[in-house]
Amino acid sequence: MKRTVIKSTGRYIPSRLVTNDDLASMMDTSDAWIRERTGIEQRYWIPEGEIVGASDLGLEATKIALDKAGWKAEELDLIIFATLSPDIFFPGPGCLLQHKLGLSSTPTIDIRQQCTGFLYGQSIADAYIRSGLARKVLFVGSEVHSTGLDKSTRGRDVAVIFGDGAAAVCFEGVETDKETGVIASVLHTAGEFAESLMLELPASRLPERGLLDCEDVARLYPTMNGSKIFKLALRRLPEVTLEVLEKAGMSLDDIDLIIPHQANLRINEAYQKTMNIPDNRIYNNIQKYGNTTAATIPLALDEVIEMGMIDTTKSTLLFVALGAGLTWAASIYRFGE
Ligand code: UT7
Repeated sequence: MKRTVIKSTGRYIPSRLVTNDDLASMMDTSDAWIRERTGIEQRYWIPEGEIVGASDLGLEATKIALDKAGWKAEELDLIIFATLSPDIFFPGPGCLLQHKLGLSSTPTIDIRQQCTGFLYGQSIADAYIRSGLARKVLFVGSEVHSTGLDKSTRGRDVAVIFGDGAAAVCFEGVETDKETGVIASVLHTAGEFAESLMLELPASRLPERGLLDCEDVARLYPTMNGSKIFKLALRRLPEVTLEVLEKAGMSLDDIDLIIPHQANLRINEAYQKTMNIPDNRIYNNIQKYGNTTAATIPLALDEVIEMGMIDTTKSTLLFVALGAGLTWAASIYRFGE
């Protein structure tokens, strides 16, 4: 049977360390508030004044993942790029990355599922691989948030959360009788909450995309109803975890490690408590990176592999995320060929 396995991972974090104290010098916030409400201690931003887009960070992560896989870019059958912070409005960064990889006709799919970008991307890779449409698929989740945040006190609820970063995963189709690779995925969307976390402009629904008429510059920055998203996460993350376990015919005891999306440590701690998950079976790194949106889960996966926290010959992982859209999703992945 054809299975979708992870051949390699890679991550790239830009060099500019931004502490909570650094943010406190830009806006009315404090290290204590940010740590207490979000768990975030620091994040990384792209170098000040440099022209760096999501495809550039994605390229660096891709080079590492391709190198670890022992693949040349030319071998890729498909590139899936997930971001909410594209280099330009269109075309998507998948096209830009493809060119930067020196490719001239490899197909690309740009997806915009925000915090669930990896889970949606993985399910697309899995569908292409299982159907025989592709064998080697590159997924990239990459965000440059820092150039699009309102760094005044007005935008502090959003600005303190996000960090820049990228991660890449090489997925490969293999023939095996073993139950390995992507075991089960579930994906959900509730568009009724679209405006609870959004970046409105530029907006095609508005005359001149709203830009010429934009009196309120805040509409050029992301806005979020934080407490609403928080409460939805507390309900949906446990729910979708149980749903994917049921789909896979597994229980939480079968899972060696859970990697949840990194939006707020308090959300993940509440999730852990609700699900009764021991500390050594859930991984968080939001403390170091903030919320890197489409990159969070593959970035964390790359770290846990590097640290030897999982056995890449047999560990079973559960990924779970919720974010703008509203989208929420989960998947179960088992290592081993
Ligand atoms: O990955 C995308 C999905 N996003 C999420 O999952 C985010 C979910 N939401 C959250 O993480 C939290 O709601 C936040 C971290 C955004 C906010 O935390 P909160 O505990 O929900 O705070 P709040 O919005 O209820 O605000 C509490 C107070 C307010 O002041 P008043 O009205 O009580 O005087 C805010 O103005 O904290 C104030 N505040 C801040 N103070 C210092 C909001 N942001 C900040 C800040 N520094 N950065």
